[in-house]
Amino acid sequence: MSDILTTRDGDILVVTLNRPAKKNALTGDMYNGMSAALDQAKDDHSIGTIVFEGSGGSFTAGNDLADFLQSASDFTQSPALNFIRRLAVCETPIVAAVDGVAVGIGTTMLFHCDLVYAAPQAKFRMPFVDLGLVPEAGSSLLVPQRLGTVRATELLMLGEGFDAQAALGFGIINAIVPTEDLRGVAMDKAHRLAVRPRAALRETRRLMRGDLAPLLARMEDEAQAFGAALQSKDAKAALSAFMDRNKRA
Ligand code: COA
Repeated sequence: MSDILTTRDGDILVVTLNRPAKKNALTGDMYNGMSAALDQAKDDHSIGTIVFEGSGGSFTAGNDLADFLQSASDFTQSPALNFIRRLAVCETPIVAAVDGVAVGIGTTMLFHCDLVYAAPQAKFRMPFVDLGLVPEAGSSLLVPQRLGTVRATELLMLGEGFDAQAALGFGIINAIVPTEDLRGVAMDKAHRLAVRPRAALRETRRLMRGDLAPLLARMEDEAQAFGAALQSKDAKAALSAFMDRNKRA
């Protein structure tokens, strides 16, 4: 069974992160699968909305940390970056259903989604600095823009985690939904988007997002810094500590 499942439900393309034993931590192959889904939506105009969800009670624990340890020196060409670039320019509306952990890119990718619903036990965190890394997916721009610098400092520099209630207050999610209703609500909202006049919807989305050039430039800037950080002693020590913790357990 693939770690990324893509299924069609009428006009909706559902992308399920499906590596539950590892809290859906994302490998290069998984990023490639997610990129392929975005490409599919770009090419197939019968797809009105994309839904991202996790399996097994997690959204995603972020990038696979073992992959980070082995990552090649040119992070700008990595599957993660290729996915992030596609996500930022995706023209198809995106809905996310967040259950359980949403760490790293599990949180930052939500800033590129149009509607986000979360279960009460959802937990968000952007621990880049603690790992000796820097923000990605444009989050160094989008988090201060959306939440203000004061809050962004706590989340990106102190790496403070937050729960669904806080995410609602920050305006990162649209609503907290009982776990058993999460998928249904996300699918219903995705359907409501998909049945609307598509050209008008996409144009509205484009206008609401405004000029993407500063975001795309920031993402490339982050990618350079991220790639350099990955090779640092701090990052190698933090990533090794996580892997060693697992070996000891
Ligand atoms: N990369 C690789 N494996 C990961 C992972 C990640 N990002 N996150 C979790 N896993 C694995 C664990 O190693 C463990 O594997 P094992 O059962 O083979 O030992 C399994 O997923 C379950 O994780 P565990 O830590 O036991 O679950 P938990 O509920 O106690 O904690 C997290 C969940 C997400 C808080 C914790 O796993 C964590 O902090 N993960 C790292 C998150 C991270 O830093 N991501 C990168 C951000 S840039």
